Amino acid sequence: MNEKPTFPTQGLESAEFDPTNHSANRTMGEVIAARFSRRGFLQGSLAVSAIAATVGPAALLSAPRAEAQEGGSVFSFPEVTAGVDADHHVAEGYDAQVLIRWGDPVVSGAPEFDPNNQTADAQAGQFGYNNDYVGYIPLDGSDEHGLLVVNHEYTNPHLMFPGLVQVVDGAAVQGDLSEEQVNIEIAAHGGSIIEIEKVDGVWRRVADSQYNRRITGTTETLITGPAAGHDRLKTSVDETGTKALGTLNNCAGGVTPWGTYLMAEENFHGYFSGELPADHAEAENYARLGAPGGWYQWHNFHDRFDVSKEPNEMNRFGYIVEVDPMDPNSVPKKRTAMGRFKHEGAESIVAPNGQVVLYSGDDERFDYVYKFVTAGTYNADDRAANMDLLDEGTLYVARFDEDGSMEWMPLVHGEGPLTAENGFESQADIVIETRRAADLLGATKMDRPEDIQPNATNGKVYVMLTNNSRRTEENVNAANPRAANAFGHIIEIAEADGDFAATSGTWEILLKCGDPSIAEVGATFSTDTTENGWFGMPDNAAVDSDGRLWVSTDGNNPTDTGRTDGLWAVDTEGAARGTSRLFYRVPVGAEMCGPVFTDDGESLFLAIQHPGDGGEDWEGHARPSFYEDPSTRWPDFRDDMPVRPAVVVVTKQGGGKIAV
Ligand code: FEO
Ligand code: CA
Ligand code: CA
Repeated sequence: MNEKPTFPTQGLESAEFDPTNHSANRTMGEVIAARFSRRGFLQGSLAVSAIAATVGPAALLSAPRAEAQEGGSVFSFPEVTAGVDADHHVAEGYDAQVLIRWGDPVVSGAPEFDPNNQTADAQAGQFGYNNDYVGYIPLDGSDEHGLLVVNHEYTNPHLMFPGLVQVVDGAAVQGDLSEEQVNIEIAAHGGSIIEIEKVDGVWRRVADSQYNRRITGTTETLITGPAAGHDRLKTSVDETGTKALGTLNNCAGGVTPWGTYLMAEENFHGYFSGELPADHAEAENYARLGAPGGWYQWHNFHDRFDVSKEPNEMNRFGYIVEVDPMDPNSVPKKRTAMGRFKHEGAESIVAPNGQVVLYSGDDERFDYVYKFVTAGTYNADDRAANMDLLDEGTLYVARFDEDGSMEWMPLVHGEGPLTAENGFESQADIVIETRRAADLLGATKMDRPEDIQPNATNGKVYVMLTNNSRRTEENVNAANPRAANAFGHIIEIAEADGDFAATSGTWEILLKCGDPSIAEVGATFSTDTTENGWFGMPDNAAVDSDGRLWVSTDGNNPTDTGRTDGLWAVDTEGAARGTSRLFYRVPVGAEMCGPVFTDDGESLFLAIQHPGDGGEDWEGHARPSFYEDPSTRWPDFRDDMPVRPAVVVVTKQGGGKIAV
């Protein structure tokens, strides 16, 4: 899947962006990655018999496994068969119900979805595109009545708009978007808050709820923390440097212990176009972010997305945004103290002394792992007292040492190299240019840090590292040990003394991903893992209330792994550690996002992002997929409906915990 995409936003999520090199040249790393791909390998010269000898016959079995045994896996559900087709699939004995789709009305008065007559106004009240993070916030402590908070990461115009793609001489070409279409895209970003309830065992949306809300690319937000009001955040429209319009590229996120919704702004640079003069004061800042990305046509109609006209607008994106879902009129707050980078998510946990710790990956090749520790402590008895905790605290970046120890290095103005001498006049400069500050501290360059999930049950922290085909033998390190890391890995951190606020800890690799039947890939799934159970490209993660790890993926496809993305259950304890099994798989072209369980473990919410995207059919043959001719019409399978990203809820038939 390294070929040039047919459409500008095709395969955006699984692409590996380089911050400085925009050429389409295939690097040696990509050549090696392609050789390690499933197809490339099977067509290659290495004998399968040698593989079987390496990993043992158990890895080649695909049949459902027996119930969990003493010392064996804690999971016993019948495994889904890995593969690719137009539909989604959940393990036998479970129901997977579509809860809400792109275009479904969210706020009162929003019209029903009409894809042939879509407007920006309609979209602003309807469920947005490309659902990613999903959080569940109970109402009155209930596991059957709460608020679903969902991020809408980005848009795929080739799949959204009729008539946009023309086929000329057999080649599909995306045309220019109209102003209304651009405004639909902007309205399809952001997030949704939806009241839901479970009635007679079936989840449904509560129409006309006072909580139902859309946040979009134009919702007014307040910038808070060290960078608020700084000159570098002022624009011709906002001379205060405190009011940004909208939040963009909300990838993963989090729910705080006090029940607010965190939206992580990830690839914000992609919305900006135009040229910044090379000697402009922000030139180095933008270069380090690979900005402007020029992925969209928004600058044709909105000056703020043209860096030659509004060079500071981009400094108002790249933050963690906090939303109070209990007040539908609350203003989302961009918490600059938590740094500005391509935030994947912001999962949180309370440290023993009450400080709140939030983990966040910077999803780019060779970028870093961060955590933020609040200065204040969480007050479980006074929600209001917690509402500005995220404005004060210490941002740390990780250094993973060869001996299995690690340091969390503080990004604090005046400490070490973070001084005016290096261009950091204040903490505001450090949070605006977090990456450059972290560079100076010698942070460890990682293989695209995605979701980072603390586990309160075993005290560990799980870091998803999705892939990095450009790592070479010369720059491997202990925490990123594979050159041409096409399939990613998962690191497990143990913070010192089990204290999530600690500034040091230890780490080890839980899993190196990829097909364990291909010895050269170097995957480390246990030999109890079946042919269906292994995966590549870990992206999001969830920990259920029994402390078990579930991993979702982005980038599996027929060519590279012979399977779609999905949700895998991964053992972390005892003899079964490193055993993985497939619970759910997405339709062709989709990515698996947002796994989250209710506290009772009886409901699992999943986000199916960009179904029908990508340039392959089920067998891996190249084919354009666009509005009129999508590779799937999931979930409606109606000729008059496009393929639609959607959120699915999984329950066990007859009730009870998803995994016992
Ligand atoms: Fe939006 Fe890093 O996934
Ligand atoms: Ca992703
Ligand atoms: Ca992600």
